[in-house]
Formats: sequence, structure tokens, C-alpha cells
Amino acid sequence: MKRITAFAILVALVINDGVAQTKSDVKMNQFISTLMKKMTLEEKLGQLNLPTSGDITTGQASNSEVAKQITEGKVGGLFNIKSVEKIRDVQKIAVEKSRLKIPLIFGMDVIHGYSTVFPIPLGLSCTWDMELIEKSARIAAIEASADGINWTFSPMVDISRDARWGRFAEGSGEDPYIGSQIAKAMVKGYQGSDLSKNNTIMACVKHFALYGAIEAGRDYNTVDMSRIRMYNEYFPPYKAAVDAGAGSVMTSFNEIDGVPASGNKWLMTDVLRRQWGFNGFVVTDFTAINEMIAHGMGDLKTVSALSLRAGVDMDMVGEGFLTTLKQSLKEGKVTQAQIDLACKRILEAKYKLGLFDDPFRYCDVQRSKTEIFTDAHRSAAREIAANSFVLLKNEKNVLPLRKKGTIGLIGPLADAKENMVGTWSVAADYNKPLSVLSALTNAVGNNAKIVYAKGSNLTADTALETRATMFGKTLRRDSRSTEAMLKEALEVANRSDVIVAALGESAEMSGESSSRTDIGIPDVQKDLLKALLKTGKPVVLVLFAGRPMTLKWESENVPAILNVWFGGSEAGSAIADVLFGDVNPSGKLTATFPQNVGQVPLFYNHKNTGRPLAEGKWFEKFRSNYLDVSNDPLFPFGFGLSYTSFSYGDISLSKGTLKPGEAITASIKVTNTGSREGKEVVQLYIRDLVGTVTRPVKELKGFQKISLKAGETKTVTFRITEEDLKFYNSDLNFLAEPGDFKLFIGTNSRDLKEADFKLLSK
Ligand code: BGC
Repeated sequence: MKRITAFAILVALVINDGVAQTKSDVKMNQFISTLMKKMTLEEKLGQLNLPTSGDITTGQASNSEVAKQITEGKVGGLFNIKSVEKIRDVQKIAVEKSRLKIPLIFGMDVIHGYSTVFPIPLGLSCTWDMELIEKSARIAAIEASADGINWTFSPMVDISRDARWGRFAEGSGEDPYIGSQIAKAMVKGYQGSDLSKNNTIMACVKHFALYGAIEAGRDYNTVDMSRIRMYNEYFPPYKAAVDAGAGSVMTSFNEIDGVPASGNKWLMTDVLRRQWGFNGFVVTDFTAINEMIAHGMGDLKTVSALSLRAGVDMDMVGEGFLTTLKQSLKEGKVTQAQIDLACKRILEAKYKLGLFDDPFRYCDVQRSKTEIFTDAHRSAAREIAANSFVLLKNEKNVLPLRKKGTIGLIGPLADAKENMVGTWSVAADYNKPLSVLSALTNAVGNNAKIVYAKGSNLTADTALETRATMFGKTLRRDSRSTEAMLKEALEVANRSDVIVAALGESAEMSGESSSRTDIGIPDVQKDLLKALLKTGKPVVLVLFAGRPMTLKWESENVPAILNVWFGGSEAGSAIADVLFGDVNPSGKLTATFPQNVGQVPLFYNHKNTGRPLAEGKWFEKFRSNYLDVSNDPLFPFGFGLSYTSFSYGDISLSKGTLKPGEAITASIKVTNTGSREGKEVVQLYIRDLVGTVTRPVKELKGFQKISLKAGETKTVTFRITEEDLKFYNSDLNFLAEPGDFKLFIGTNSRDLKEADFKLLSK
């Protein structure tokens, strides 16, 4: 049977230009080459142009400015246009009025859901549950495609280690291993196994590359990084997305080795296409070509030519390709072959999406009525959100709360439905989510009383609050004085048996262009929290956060802290589920929480240095440390508590030596030692003790999320092969070096059992 399948595949392959092609590739190539023969230079350049939807209104598409351009064949696609009706109208213009009737591709930032919104990507990553993550992308694809979209600018897989950066919220944290697993799961969820189906959409992995390593966490800032760090620590998630078949890649705004990504041939051609074999198309980030002028790379004509030569195919918004490449071609700055190649790649994407067969494939008005924001999608979002919350502290089992007595709900994020979805939720209706107040009120019914006070504004500084509540994500700033709001809050607190303080960041305090130098809870809220604690009532901090925050004081003084990130459209109910114990929290951090902002960037997989601080020490003169704070994180990578507790046995290795081509297994017994069922993320880390280059103190190499009933024990087994020990050396060769290794298994990156093994050369 196997032989026949292999033979059939072989027959289906045709060799073309030295590249093996399937029959359908051959068909696609023929179709596109026939089409391209008919295209003028202007029409080819038109395909490389990606404007935003601009002034299109329902029923009036043909009167818009962009309609004129589409009719003239000057547009390849449009993005951030919402509603199937509008998209249908615009597609009609392309396929009825333009000379060659080439359909448009429709993109959108479908980042963490569409109408049904899932947790912000940082929160989603804390589920450590690849099935749920894939499911979130699948649902996003179903809803977006039902509304006319066939291309999403996601997943964002930038490794982030600087919590000042607002876009930390959009990625999966600091670790390349889990980042790669998530990148794969997202691409699979969006694209499925057949891109031409009407409910799958093309992924666009972004921002290629290294955007998360911008200096000082200040958005759009400079990046400078060694190649060895790129390959080992920052590239893996992009590569994983490419390996998973992502159809497109977006350039980043930053420079790499002194050349902005959108003009960087080494990155876009040598790495992406030659080394990784990427065969989709590359789109720039928003006006990134034009921004090379400010970077100091030349005028629009120069940077546009530079970008095309680098291997970029589509120009988002800037129109540098559209307006200058013709002249550059005349001057010999770019070649016809380079223009043709970019055009071909974009047409291929449209072909793969099935748009040439049916340009209205994604314009099923009926689907838009029945497949968006459905009960099933919303209940998945609720489950996923509850799985993303991270319980950071729970002294004396303050949580879960009982549904009885009087619960005081206090804080500027308590009645803030517009903020529940978090940053980058362009398709969401901010009025749909339940606030924490409504969700808790629904959850307790007649069994308990919820009393509420806002307690404080988001920040004392009005201008800062305005900047942090943009895009309609209002917190309805209260005009009362701080004292008056506090007084009301204390009255409510004094009437309550327990206090739930809903505090932290607003949705737009993270995300693009939302970097912060102070990553704590704003002072006015912290003062409120202090006053609430002084009442002597038990206080639960429900923390809204779009990044790792500094919570040292809170961790020392507040009995319970539940980090809920921004959980999406069903976040309110999910918060109620976890607070009342209907769901046992199981999220684990995918980013280290520092003690203070001065420690940033702080990440678990750092190098040892020549002067490491001995374990357990705070300070030693002439060691790598600080005078005023220990090197320890506040909460380590992988950390997260449960309402139950888990204990770990010792590691048992199948053998102490590993030969290339063989595997060893590492097993450990994990027991639920508490009194309720719970989920635990069992984490495997490895340290390569000696290398030709320095190696991190530990690296995540595996994890399993298991569910254990009270008292139950399970044996968790990891399989380790030479492949898991490989890294890029100084010559950027990917290999494993024989020698001694340490292996760790445990509940987070700090609290681990260990064992030793050796990799033999043969
Ligand atoms: C962001 C991208 C986004 C694009 C399109 C840019 O400003 O950096 O992440 O996909 O806009 O909206």
C-alpha cells in the first residue's frame, strides 16, 4: 500500500527548473504565465500595491477613490475592509471593471479572533495548549472568511524580552521553543489543509524579523544583534511558521545589520527563501518602504528599488512600488525579472486561495449571518480565556470565592466592557463583551450580592489616560476627585466580605505604539489597592495586563493575584468561572515577570557569563548582579499556580548516554496532592554544559499539559534525541556537540528536578 502511494506521488511530480513540482503546481504555473503574458508593466506593478480600504462605504464602493485605482488595475489587494457586502462590491469592481479581471486579495489584522475574540496572544500562549490555540485560529479563520477576508496578518511570532515594549502583548513571550509550537499551531488553524476552501485563510507570519529586540523597548526602535543569537533565539518561530506552510511573510520596521528589514536582501532572500525554502510572498509592514527614507536609505525611488531587489513582493500602503519602479526599470535599478517574480508570487497566492476559480468564494452573505459570533465559538472563547489566566498568588486559599455574602468589586477595570478584548481586535464590537461587573452579577444570581465602586481612574494623569484608551476603548474617565472616588470605594469595601480589585492596564496600554517605562500598576490604582488592604478584608487582585508587569509590592501584600491579561469577548464570564472555582486555573507564564523595570530584559534562558552569581545568593562583589536587587525574577518563566497542588517524583532516564540516531526517555511521576481536579504543565528543560560556543543555562525542550484528578498520579515521559540538542554554532551550522548535558523537569523554569546524560559522538 505504502509503495503505491509513494509511486503515485512520484508520478504526480514533474521536474521544472530543478524544483520538484506537483501536477497542481504545473497547472498553476501555466495559468499564471498565460495571464502574465497579457499584463502590461503597469498592471504588474498594480498587483504589488496594497492600499487600505480608505473611503469605501457599503453600497458606495464604486464611488471611492480606491475604486478608480482598482478599475485601472493598480491594486493587488485591500486590507482592513470589514463586511462581506463591502468586500463583494469591491471584488466586483476588480473582476468586472478592470481590464484583466484579476481578483483582489483581502487582508485584515485578525490577530486573536475576529468577532469572537480570544485572549491577546500573550495570554493565549499561557494556555500552553496547542489544541486550544489552533482552535482559536480555526474559529478566527471561519469567522473572518465568512465576512469576506481571506488573508490575516497573523501570527505575530516576535520573541519579546523587554516588557517595556507594548507589542509584547501580540506575541507568545520570550521562548523560541514554545513560540515555534504556537507559530505552527496558528498557521495550521488559519490555513487548514486546503487554502482554497472557503473557510480557510492565508497566514502572514510577522514581523520578519527581530522586531521584539528593539532597543529600550521603544516601539520602532533600532535592533542590533549577533547572527548566532538570531539563529538560536529569535529566528526559530518564524522558521516554524514557514515550515508549517505560512503563505506570506510581513517585513518588520526595524533594521537588521544596519539595513531595514524591508530592504534587507540577506534576510528576505538568503535566509527566508534560500535557507528556509519559503515560496510564498512577502508584504511590507505599513509604509515600511517609505520609512526607509527616514532610516536614511535614500529617496522613495531608491528605497523602493532596494526593497524589490531584496525580495519584497508587496508594498503596504506606501505606493513606492506603484509610483517609482517603472522609472527604476528604465534606469536599470531593477529588472523586469524582479518585477515579474514579485507579481507572480502574488498571483500564486490568489490562485492558491481559489480566487481565480471563484473571486466571490469568501463572499457568502449567508455564512456571514450564521458563522460569526456563534454560541459554539463564544463558548470556545470562554474556555480558552479561562485557560489563559495565570494564578500568581493564592495565600490561605482566598480563591476560589464562594457565591455567598457580599462581594465588593472595585477598580477602574471592573466595569469596562470596551477593554475586555484587548489590543488589536479590529473586527470586534466592543459593546458585546460582558464587564467583570456584569459577569460576576450573572454568576452569583441570587446567592450573593455584588457591590461596585470604580475606586479610581486608570491614571491620575488625564493626558496619559487619553493616550491609553484610544480607538473607542474608553474607561469613561470620572470627573470626581481621587479622594471622593476612594471614599466611595472604602464604603463599598467596608460593606463587603471579600474584595475583588479589578486593576492594572487598560487594553491600549499595550499593543502597537504603547511602550511604557513604568510597567507597574499606575500609582492612583496602587493607592486604592493599599487602602483596600488596610480595611483588613481579604483582597483578590484581578490583574489586567498586556505585558509582564512589576508587581513586587503586590506580591508581598495582596493575598491573591489572578492575572487575566485581556481575555477577549468572553473574558468576563471566564473570569467569573475561575474566581468561583468552576474552572481551576492552569495558565503558566510564557514570559518572566521582573522585580523591577531595571532588570529588563530578563529571561530564563540567558547565558551563564564568566562571573555567575552562586545559586541562592543575592549579591557578591565582582559577580554579575546588581547592588540593589537580586537577579531573581519575581515570577519565573513557566510559573502559574492552581487551586490544587502537584508534587513531582524524581526523574528516571532510560539510559545515561545518547547516541546519534537513538533516543532516551525521561520519565517523572506527577501527583495531584490537593483536593480538586486540575491541569498541570509539565516542563522539560535541557542545558548543554560545554560547547564550542556558550550555551544558555537552560532551554525549554518539551512540555505536556496533563489533567489529574485529586490524588491521582501520572507518569509523564519525554523522548529526547540528538535533534533536540542541536543549535547554531559560530559558523551557523546546526548541530549537536557530544558531551555532558543536564536535563530538568518541573512545574516552572525555576523549581525543577534534574538528571544528567551524555551525548556520544557515535
Ligand atoms: C503593524 C502590523 C499590521 C499592519 C496592518 C502595522 O502598523 O505593525 O502588525 O499588520 O499595521 O494593519
